[in-house]
Amino acid sequence: MNRDDILKSLMTADLAALCAEADRVRREHVGDAVHLRGLIEFSNACGRDCLYCGLRRSNREVVRYRMGTDEIFASAAFAAGLGFKSLVLQSGESAQYETDALCALVRRIKAELGVAITLSIGEKTREEYAALKKAGADRYLLRFETSSDVLFRKLKPDSSQAERMACLHALREVGFQVGSGIMVGLPGQTVEMIADDIFLMQELDLDMIGFGPFIANPETPLKDQGNASLDLTLRTLAVIRIVMKNVHIPATTAMGTIDPEGRQKALRAGANVLMPNVTPTVYREMYQLYPNKPGLKQAPSDTFETLVKLVHSVGRTVAIDAGHSLKPAPSP
Ligand code: 5AD
Repeated sequence: MNRDDILKSLMTADLAALCAEADRVRREHVGDAVHLRGLIEFSNACGRDCLYCGLRRSNREVVRYRMGTDEIFASAAFAAGLGFKSLVLQSGESAQYETDALCALVRRIKAELGVAITLSIGEKTREEYAALKKAGADRYLLRFETSSDVLFRKLKPDSSQAERMACLHALREVGFQVGSGIMVGLPGQTVEMIADDIFLMQELDLDMIGFGPFIANPETPLKDQGNASLDLTLRTLAVIRIVMKNVHIPATTAMGTIDPEGRQKALRAGANVLMPNVTPTVYREMYQLYPNKPGLKQAPSDTFETLVKLVHSVGRTVAIDAGHSLKPAPSP
């Protein structure tokens, strides 16, 4: 697809036909199996002040928590016992865990549970990334959020596009499978910017794309902005699948928040991953990037069951492998 085709697909193309094409590309390049990654939100402490996010440091309404590493391990063990082959450990940024402690946790999870580990813990130094990789972490998620430098600076006052890109390059260089992506429907974002975002995703040659609709959080400065539409989110998803082909794309929780059938629709528009929340129930209400996350009160096992049913309801199967990158390994 060239830029004009992408813009047409984002704005005017027939949605059903676009999703059908993305579904075909998904089937051909990644098959019918849906990967389940268990998400453990291990701390909501955050030193950043991103305008869209409920965990921003200026939000004094949030009770901050930090799970201890033994507690995180226990959650991981529980999730592995449920059948997860792949776990995502996510926290706010600069949540004040020593890198050594995180490395020890990663080593223990790898040695005792053998699951794939994805980290989603923000901007760190190349040395910290290298240490975490060496400890055994497999993947790293760091959304670039928007390719527009101007919009980025407005929304993320503590960082810059350039710093984010440097992190993404460092992650790749130390050997991680890398996931990145955007929010669709950010205040101030245009469809031209989304087209640029998609070109940047291609340029970064990502293994995974994480993205979802912007949802206004009442405890942030963007509280009066409208939520993104599922229509634009699905169009973006479909285009990403069609142009990137062999990448992992989750049907994110945020899609299930703006539409009760959002994740099912996403699975039919190119997505092949679900990330059920396996955070201990006591912490969930405190980890709200945006309001009305589905499954806030469910126990981890309920969520697992719910998601297996969801996968079957769209005629797909649950993957039994760890779901590593679909790209050929780089030559040494
Ligand atoms: N709406 C939707 N997604 C959000 N995120 C943060 N705040 C919001 C919001 N209000 C996303 C960001 C971040 C990811 C962990 O959650 O893209 O990278």
